Amino acid sequence: MNIIDSLNWRYATTKFDTQRIISDSDIDKLKEIVKLAPSSWGMQFYKIIIIKDNELKQKLLPAAYNQNQVADCSHLFVFCSLKKVFEEDINQMIDEFHRLRVNDDNYSKEGTDKYASGAKKSILGMEPKKQSEWLKKQCYIALGQLMVGCADMRIDSCPMEGFKSDEVDEILDLQSQNLTSVVLLPSGYRSEDDKYQHKTKVRKPNNLLFEDK
Ligand SMILES: Cc1cc2nc3c(=O)[nH]c(=O)nc-3n(C[C@H](O)[C@H](O)[C@H](O)COP(=O)(O)O)c2cc1C
Repeated sequence: MNIIDSLNWRYATTKFDTQRIISDSDIDKLKEIVKLAPSSWGMQFYKIIIIKDNELKQKLLPAAYNQNQVADCSHLFVFCSLKKVFEEDINQMIDEFHRLRVNDDNYSKEGTDKYASGAKKSILGMEPKKQSEWLKKQCYIALGQLMVGCADMRIDSCPMEGFKSDEVDEILDLQSQNLTSVVLLPSGYRSEDDKYQHKTKVRKPNNLLFEDK
């Protein structure tokens, strides 16, 4: 399938068909798609909570200003960033670098350890507010990749920032995991009567959006 066709097919779905559920095998594919998203330093300092349970989705509805997508979707992806990075978080990922690359032709333990020192200096040295913003940005990269992946599989979704993060954190008990909710992606299948699917896409004209030099 042509990627441009997929992107034109996609729209921010406001009404999901509550009867249609994404299959477990498609959820596995979506996990793989989002897992392959790039991140700064390759550290993926986030967790993605995937909620299928209707009761829990319903509980989150008021925290999302009663935007029905949250309750009516098949699966709700909740992108959560770390609240703060600890040295152990970096060590845990560096262990993965060693484990997964140890058999690479050009693997070097010293090189990887040097990389870890650089990462620690940069990440742990960040001023807390800057670090928190940086952590949240990583979630958006993963979000974008997942949305495109969904569209390519003809799965609908709706990116959502319209929710009260503190309430979602409380309901999902994120604080205890050093996590905070950043952005939501309800996913599933559009309802036939979601009028938004028929709206023409509005995007900036190329001369304003791009500058060719
Ligand atoms: C980061 C982000 C947050 C958004 N938050 C919401 C939201 O809370 N509720 C909603 O209905 N749409 C939300 N949207 C959807 C946008 O309104 C929509 O993507 C935009 O109008 C373009 O339309 P399209 O996605 O259908 O092409 C959000 C989109 C993005 C990228």
